[in-house]
Amino acid sequence: MPVKKGAEIAPAKGKLGVLLVGLGAVSTTFIAGVEAIKEGMAEPIGSLTQMGTVRLGKRTDNRVPKIKDFLPLASLKDLVFGAWDIFPDSAYDAAMHAGVLEKDLLAKLKKPLQKIKPMKAVFDQTYVKRLSGENVKQGKNKLELARQLINDIADFKRKNKCDRLVMIWAASTEIFMKQHAVHRNLETFEKAMRENHKAIAPSMVYAYAALKSGVPFANGAPNLTVDIPALMDLANKQGMPVCGKDFKTGQTLMKTILAPGLKSRMLGLHGWYSTNILGNRDGEVLDDPDSFKTKEESKLSVLEYILQPDVYPQLYKDFSHVVRINYYPPRGDNKEGWDNIDIFGWLGYKMQIKIDFLCRDSILAAPIVLDLALFLDLAQRTGMKGVQEWLSFYFKSPMTAPGLYPEHDVFIQLMKLKNTLRHLRGEDLITHLGLEYYD
Ligand SMILES: NC(=O)c1ccc[n+]([C@@H]2O[C@H](COP(=O)([O-])OP(=O)(O)OC[C@H]3O[C@@H](n4cnc5c(N)ncnc54)[C@H](O)[C@@H]3O)[C@@H](O)[C@H]2O)c1
Repeated sequence: MPVKKGAEIAPAKGKLGVLLVGLGAVSTTFIAGVEAIKEGMAEPIGSLTQMGTVRLGKRTDNRVPKIKDFLPLASLKDLVFGAWDIFPDSAYDAAMHAGVLEKDLLAKLKKPLQKIKPMKAVFDQTYVKRLSGENVKQGKNKLELARQLINDIADFKRKNKCDRLVMIWAASTEIFMKQHAVHRNLETFEKAMRENHKAIAPSMVYAYAALKSGVPFANGAPNLTVDIPALMDLANKQGMPVCGKDFKTGQTLMKTILAPGLKSRMLGLHGWYSTNILGNRDGEVLDDPDSFKTKEESKLSVLEYILQPDVYPQLYKDFSHVVRINYYPPRGDNKEGWDNIDIFGWLGYKMQIKIDFLCRDSILAAPIVLDLALFLDLAQRTGMKGVQEWLSFYFKSPMTAPGLYPEHDVFIQLMKLKNTLRHLRGEDLITHLGLEYYD
């Protein structure tokens, strides 16, 4: 466990600034949603921190508080939002462009949304080929750009009178990158920033600036970003919590719900074919093969880890797993995800499952952004630093401590999250062992 049982948690006093990299569909749906909830226009559906409960003690104890009453989380009324984007549109205009929320709802929220104007971004088209924008910082090298971000962060904190900040990457998916020798430690990383090395992507510059400023960082996209030794060293040195990668929504959420169920009944798998059509800007960016590769790696990894073909070769050896994303503008943010699953049962008899999930990407992602902001802030006030594996629940490719494999099963992830909350409050962990009839 990262901290001792019942550790002291600093109170959530004052304002919490939520700094979003990227003011696109996910970020604007998140901000507009929080504003609507604050005004009593909607319920925080999909948010574990707002609606979830945690059972404490024995089943006979009848203690099931809401998570937000059990732990000192920041309250929604204390959240303030800031963002960077390569387009200068306010959160209102960006939300209108994204087309996720109805115009009538956005009209009611126009005042707070219009006030949020994005700061100039650190951007380089080498890393996101399908985009170009004007609202971009200039600087002689990547370290100098990081300094500009550090100034933005300090200015935002002062102007908005924030007590604490968190930063969440909700910007476009960058091209596929592997760890490079310059990511080895902070010294080689900073040298590479000064030399404008190609192995330093813009997302890494933001993560560096956040950690240097004492701000926890979450990565909602599949980019490498903070998942490199140099930035993990910095997170540990600064005592900052970090987590990632790639919000678990839509098709992958369904996969991590269904696959553990099939495995629990020892049903075999011949193949899982997944395809998507989506037409938002995210879909356009992912239409570039280099950005898609980053996403594909993230989406493909989940089944291998959940099904454990090495442990169950008769059931899962050599299953075929294919993932496709097709950019299809008419659909906008309302993605359609199809899955064809070829399974087999008793005596090897074949069966099929078909899923057609007519989902809304940003509607599923927005509550994740809220929960991550509140939980990262809680982790920071508790003194939890480095990778926060208990937040794996929210990610397609959960970051782990070096040498560990990621846990993808959504039910194990939820148990890990809730047991972490119990541990923080000095409560007994729930094992469901049933040694006593009431356990
Ligand atoms: N919506 C989901 O369900 C979901 C799930 C998992 C991951 N994601 C990821 O979240 C991210 C955001 O998704 P979205 O649907 O909001 O996309 P979007 O295209 O609507 O928004 C992304 C925004 O980031 C901006 N941007 C790009 N590079 C930037 C940079 N270097 N600095 C600042 N801004 C930058 C773009 O201009 C754009 O406005 C994507 O990477 C996506 O893959 C989304």
